Parts: sequence; C-alpha cells; structure tokens
Amino acid sequence: MSHYCTLIPGDGIGPEVAQAAVRAVEATGVDIVWRRAELNEAIILESGKTLPQYLLDSLNETKIGLKGPVTTPVAGGFQSVNVALRKTLDLFANVRPVKTLPGVKTRFQDVKIDMVIFRENTEDLYSGLEHEIVKDVVTSLKVITRTASERIARYAFNYAKKNSRKTVVAIHKANIMKLADGLFLRCCRETSKNFPDINYKELIVDNASMQLVMRPETFDILLLPNLYGDIVSDLAAGLVGGLGIVPGANMGETHAVFEAVHGSAPDIAGQGKANPTALMLSAVMMLTHMGENEASHKMQSAVEAVYREGKYLTSDVGGTSSTGEFADAVVRAIKG
Ligand code: NAI
Repeated sequence: MSHYCTLIPGDGIGPEVAQAAVRAVEATGVDIVWRRAELNEAIILESGKTLPQYLLDSLNETKIGLKGPVTTPVAGGFQSVNVALRKTLDLFANVRPVKTLPGVKTRFQDVKIDMVIFRENTEDLYSGLEHEIVKDVVTSLKVITRTASERIARYAFNYAKKNSRKTVVAIHKANIMKLADGLFLRCCRETSKNFPDINYKELIVDNASMQLVMRPETFDILLLPNLYGDIVSDLAAGLVGGLGIVPGANMGETHAVFEAVHGSAPDIAGQGKANPTALMLSAVMMLTHMGENEASHKMQSAVEAVYREGKYLTSDVGGTSSTGEFADAVVRAIKG
C-alpha cells in the first residue's frame, strides 16, 4: 500500500537534512509518495501568509507531514510557522523522545538516558496574545484550559501504558501561577487516577531542570505545558549530544507532522555540516505512525549502527563527515 506524505523541507539546514531523511526512508523500501511543499522565510514574506493554502491542502490530503525547520524572525515580523501549523491542524501533542545514542560523547557517558517529553502544543504563552497597554508596558497572556491540559495528559499516560513506561512526572510552576499552572496540574493529577499502574509525580520546573542535569537517567515520561516543554526539550537535547540528534512529532486527532527539535541553524546552513539524525529519527517515528514497524526498526537500528561504528559522524557529535556522508552510511546500513 502506498503512503502519502507532505514533505516540507523548510529553510536553513532544512533542505539538507530533509534530503538525507528521504534517502534513508526510501532505502527501507517503504512505498511513500512524497508531496513536496516549499515553505520558507522568502515565500512567507512574498505571499504575506504564514501558511500558504497549497501547504494546508496537501496536509489535508495526506494527513502526514515530514517537516524541516523554518526560520522565524525574532521580536517582530511574521508569526511562527510552527505555532500557526500546530494551531491550524490542532496538533496538540508534541512528543520528543530523548535517548542516549551509542558512541556519542556527552558529559553523561556513564548513564543511559531514555525519556520522552510530552509538551502541550496549542496554548500557554504561545497563544500570541500580547498587548502594549500603554507605551513600554506590555502584557502577554498565558492561556491554560482544562480541555487542552486533559488532552495532553491523557495522551502522555496512554503512551506510557502502551509502551510499558513506569513513571509520568508533571512539570509546572503552580506555586507561583496558582490558577494557570494549578489547572494544568489538577488535570494531570485527575488523569493519573485512571492509570493506577503508572507512577505519577510532580516537580516544579526550576527543580526539574536541576534534577535533569544531576540525574537525567531517573526521568521517564515528562508532561509539560507549552513554554516549559519548549525550554526543557532543548535542555534534554543537550544531555544526549545536542539538537542534531533529537527527533519529534506533532500529533493531532487527524493529522501528524514529524519534525526535529532543532531550528534552521543559519550559522551552518548550506555548508554540508548539519546532522540529519534528528530528522531521520523523526521519520522513524513517522514510519511507526504509518504502521510500517519493520521499516521503522530497520531505520532506527541503521542509525544506531552508524553511531556505534563512529566512522561517519558529523562535527556536532565529534566526527568529521558531511551530512551526505552520514546519510550514505545510514543508507548502506539499511540495505545491509
Ligand atoms: P537552532 O536549533 O537552529 O540552532 C541552535 C544551535 O544548534 C546552532 O548552533 C546550530 O548550528 C546547532 N544545530 C541545530 N541543529 C543542528 C543540526 N541538525 N546539526 C548540527 N547542529 C545543529 O536554534 P536557533 O538558532 O535558536 O534558531 C534558528 C531559527 O530557527 C530561528 O529563526 C528559529 O525561530 C527557527 N526555529 C525553527 C524551528 C522549527 O521550524 N521547528 C524550531 C526552532 C527554531
């Protein structure tokens, strides 16, 4: 059976890592029809639209996207494409597995890190409701709803149950934001009651950040509202070797868009230096979502084998190979 996927290469390092990921997926032999949809800063600025209609039409047809990063201007300019996409398609769950890869030198050599981050993806301070009340006085609204909090909590617990995970920790700042984070926490607590076989814990976000650095191996499933989820994801990526290797998925009821945690990395774009592992492993998550478990295992094992061998790694993880050379090695490992 053919699968259909909207391929959004993005900009910066996006097209380089997308090409590498597509090559690896195709090497598995899975029958995928790619619908390529360009989206980058130039197109957005020219069209004046954050999400062009052809992109939404394609995603509405395929229901699945593999997406590279898209540059968002800081402090001004257009709204983040990612935020717009997540809201428009109601991709409420951001899922980010953070796992030690064999052979990657990190500060945590002696421990095995294997955690999955569940970040609420549609509200919180990402609602974009900012006002300048009078000159030089700005408010930014943090929106937390029961519907969205329960939905992400249920998603995380269901994942934990399905994947034999033991502990879910809800991360919050309800000691200060008693109403907003208080509601999020209440929803997590209530949801946990429906999953008696899974341990449920709570940590305040500042303490959680310290514990993550001190004892990363003790974390299993992390459940967070949007902003803390964003920050903690990058922190966690740093524990296992950086943004080059951490994948992600944005999941909704009807659509799913798979993308790395990293951004468009303008500092290394176009130099053949980008590590495509993060998007490759996002594609592994996509294959699992498509029900292509054999291909997904094959691709995951191939990436791990290339890391174990250590000969064709990119410079962010201590190697000297280019994006293309790493991709060649993964393709060879998949084809066996
Ligand atoms: P970034 O993730 O692009 O880069 C941070 C650092 O990590 C840089 O030093 C970069 O070289 C390195 N890095 C990132 N990915 C790498 C890879 N695959 N291989 C090797 N090194 C890698 O974050 P930054 O600089 O804050 O953001 C750049 C742009 O990307 C901004 O416009 C931002 O809004 C956008 N962005 C887009 C995202 C998306 O489309 N999903 C997510 C995050 C940021």
